[in-house]
Amino acid sequence: MSAAFRKGRLGLDPEPAEMRRMGEAVLAYLIAFIEGLDDAPAAATDGALELARRLRASPPEDPGRFEDLFEQVRAAVAHTLEFAGPGYLAYIPGGGLFTAALADFLAQGVNRFVGLWQTSPAVAQLEENVCRWICDVFDLPADARGILTSGGSMANLSAVVTARHAKLGDDPSDGVYYVSEQAHASVTKAAAIAGFSRKHLRIVPTDAELRMDPEALRALVREDRRAGARPFLVVPSAGTTNTGAIDPLDAIADVAADEGLWMHVDAAYGGFFRLTERGRARFRGIERADSITVDPHKGLFLPYGTGALAVRDGAALRDAHFEGAAYLQDLQPTGELPNYSELSPELSRDWRGLRVWMPLVLHGVGAFRRALDEKLDLAAWIDGELRSDPRLDLPWSTQLTVTPFRLRDADDAANAELLRRINASRRVVLSSTRVGGRFVLRVCIVSHRTHRDRVEEAAGIIRAAAAELAGD
Ligand SMILES: Cc1ncc(COP(=O)(O)O)c(C=O)c1O
Repeated sequence: MSAAFRKGRLGLDPEPAEMRRMGEAVLAYLIAFIEGLDDAPAAATDGALELARRLRASPPEDPGRFEDLFEQVRAAVAHTLEFAGPGYLAYIPGGGLFTAALADFLAQGVNRFVGLWQTSPAVAQLEENVCRWICDVFDLPADARGILTSGGSMANLSAVVTARHAKLGDDPSDGVYYVSEQAHASVTKAAAIAGFSRKHLRIVPTDAELRMDPEALRALVREDRRAGARPFLVVPSAGTTNTGAIDPLDAIADVAADEGLWMHVDAAYGGFFRLTERGRARFRGIERADSITVDPHKGLFLPYGTGALAVRDGAALRDAHFEGAAYLQDLQPTGELPNYSELSPELSRDWRGLRVWMPLVLHGVGAFRRALDEKLDLAAWIDGELRSDPRLDLPWSTQLTVTPFRLRDADDAANAELLRRINASRRVVLSSTRVGGRFVLRVCIVSHRTHRDRVEEAAGIIRAAAAELAGD
């Protein structure tokens, strides 16, 4: 049956019965999808490129059939890594809470605009509840401001732009910023977009655990200042992507305070572990940051597309992003509620606050705290398990929930083969990186759907593959 569309509305609003039929089909699919995740293959990319080629098409002039295109969507989704499943231990896992999907459906359906609060104050308030809560998680003061972004990369961009504006004013040409070689690429990318080339960048050495060395930072800053440059920004990480290393935030905050640097903490991956006792202890000093990136689409298990930036001095965020416009003159500036469009590069955008607010309120913060605590336990467990295997070498400790490892006394090719065999299990997916030029595998546990059973299975698969390669 082809889709029925109301007459007289350019064929774009389906009849109520049709809306229900399509909506119920999607809902039924999603419920079955989530229920099936435990048994779904962790990777199902065989034939995916061929499928992609078959799906290559321009949209037709005439109406399509919902059943046909829904089938195409389901097929496309089935030929991927299982990002939403418990076996996804690669890169930094995201989540995919059903309640966030529901919030998105609702938010997109009513299509409310939150960029200028006056147009929809109560809608903006729900998003602001989330932004304020994120500032509170990090004990930032009352005049701090938060924004929701599409991800950590965009949050890092707004942070760099804010630091540039606050510290260098109109002439950033002599500015110098500092990261360790373990910083996420989005930081240097953000700086490049903000006009800072490699000559503005200093790489701060790290210690044996791949953490930024604060005294080396201090020495570099002083050297640069003596040479006539203007050091303005340091970006430590609260959980690096490669190995989960946590830079010594309190000591770096001391250097930043002494040397007048803006301290932006990239906590995109690790930030929400601050909800746990252990995270709070490990991130000591983060509350002194000028700005913090944190990704709800990582540590709050939300669907991709949800990052956040919290800035201690909300006015600095606004000063860096505000651009008046005559056609917005009817609307009031930031007041009791913020105009998010004055705090970020975006004007029109989705009401992404609902996607964070609804799960937080529906499940309660405690549910997230307990899930994050569980991830810390699981990562500590697999660290011990892999460390007990004489074939495996774990060069760094598990500081958060990334456990890096490689085959002992083996070259990169053997380690790449180990990764291939592990992933061929289709029960778990791991990814690799390079540290100090050497190939390293890593287990990264973030998903709310990853529990002890899958982590035990992962350890068994890794150990069996290592034994097989060793010919044992
Ligand atoms: C530490 C860190 N910073 C920044 C990012 C970039 O975030 P996004 O992918 O949300 O843009 C990531 C992503 O994994 C990350 O791990």
